[in-house]
Amino acid sequence: MAVKQICCIGAGYVGGPTCAVIAYKCPDIDVTVVDLNKSRIDAWNSDELPIYEVNTPTKTYGIGKGRAADLKYVESCARHIASVTTGHKIVVEKSTVPVRAAASISRILTANNKPGSTYQVLSNPEFLAEGTAIVNLLKPDRVLIGGENSVLGQQAIKALVDVYAHWVPNEKIIKTNTWSSELSKLAANAFLAQRISSINAMSAVCEVTGADVCEVANAIGKDTRIGDKFLNASIGFGGSCFQKDVLNLVYLCEALNLPEVADYWQQVIEINNYQRRRFASRIIGSLFNTVSGKQITLLGFAFKKDTGDTRESSSIYVSKYLLDEGAHLVIYDPKVPEKQIKRELQHPTITENPATVDDLVSICHDPYEACSGSHAIAVCTEWDEFKTLDYQRIFEKMLKPAFIFDGRGILPHAKLAEIGFQVEAIGKMVGKEGQFHVGSSNNILSPTSRVLP
Ligand code: UGA
Repeated sequence: MAVKQICCIGAGYVGGPTCAVIAYKCPDIDVTVVDLNKSRIDAWNSDELPIYEVNTPTKTYGIGKGRAADLKYVESCARHIASVTTGHKIVVEKSTVPVRAAASISRILTANNKPGSTYQVLSNPEFLAEGTAIVNLLKPDRVLIGGENSVLGQQAIKALVDVYAHWVPNEKIIKTNTWSSELSKLAANAFLAQRISSINAMSAVCEVTGADVCEVANAIGKDTRIGDKFLNASIGFGGSCFQKDVLNLVYLCEALNLPEVADYWQQVIEINNYQRRRFASRIIGSLFNTVSGKQITLLGFAFKKDTGDTRESSSIYVSKYLLDEGAHLVIYDPKVPEKQIKRELQHPTITENPATVDDLVSICHDPYEACSGSHAIAVCTEWDEFKTLDYQRIFEKMLKPAFIFDGRGILPHAKLAEIGFQVEAIGKMVGKEGQFHVGSSNNILSPTSRVLP
């Protein structure tokens, strides 16, 4: 049962690159990508490629609102497949879905099938990260394929394995049952998010004890059982996946009557929110407990470097807390368009009054101009260009004392302190090593007393 044709539904961030790589590596397979959105297909056929995330959005209504995956698109896809296909088909689930979604897809397909047509549903989750999708596809850590433990199920798995075998070494292709595969996708993102929340929780301890979170991350990361990746303390993780998938897992655990497990994973989100508030609180505390009317420059708005994606970016929440305190924000990001920044900040969940954003936020296209006249700079995205700005020049144009808050741990702190900046970095006491902050009179960092509610 060799695969000769693949039709991919959804020409977004997953479907586009995945099918491009399959077509590139498998000249014997005919690959077609379809999408409801015609302009997206037109863009793929032009020189200006669209990169949008393929959505399995979170529900915005009814039971599980804000947490459960909205499967209406997956369901309508399954119905559509049943209405047009004949013969034997393998349906591969690549979107992140709740465990046992394959069973629902299978039921819809078989309940609506045409005489003589049969289906096997496989789970083959994607593990692509934004900005590195093609590398992740060409050299995956692993390919995961889950299917039914039946003769037909195993045949379908074998057929999909043969597609990947064109370029992925056999030992990297993992075969599991369907539910393990579906759960592994949620589990992988939950574990990655948990690592970030763990190191961010440590950063709070570092800031009040004089330990340095980078030194701690380096020391623990050298333990091969822990490993050194995903240990960068930050202002909190963002992006379209981590929060969505962890909330999805929490919802699933609640639905499965596993409240202790649900609470455990919920805490990963709580620490992430705490970290965002803590960073904003530190800015406010350092600026003599008021930012009202003060100009603060945010360097970076994307959820991570090398992307213009701002979904769930921690910058949005840091901005919100500062705007709530009346700060004037000047925002510079090398990739994110002005309209998109304003749209994020004017979202009803962020502000009740969109006019405040027009009054209090300006967007700059030049980092030097953005910093001129500011009381403080806050680095929110780890763009490489922020490491090499002319900080002497920036310092001269700022109000004094000139504060710089490094939310990503990327700046040359000693050099900045030498220029005259008051440097505050996540998980560090720059220039104040050896001081113990808890209970001291200038205790601006005490997590319990200072963090925004
Ligand atoms: C993430 C996973 O890394 C992919 O494996 C997964 O396939 C993808 O979600 C998905 O489910 O689609 P992505 O959201 O593109 O990929 O970005 P990451 O590189 O994982 O970064 C997520 C967030 O965590 C960013 O805000 C980043 O700045 C932050 N982060 C990452 C940290 O704060 N510290 C770190 O050490 C690493």
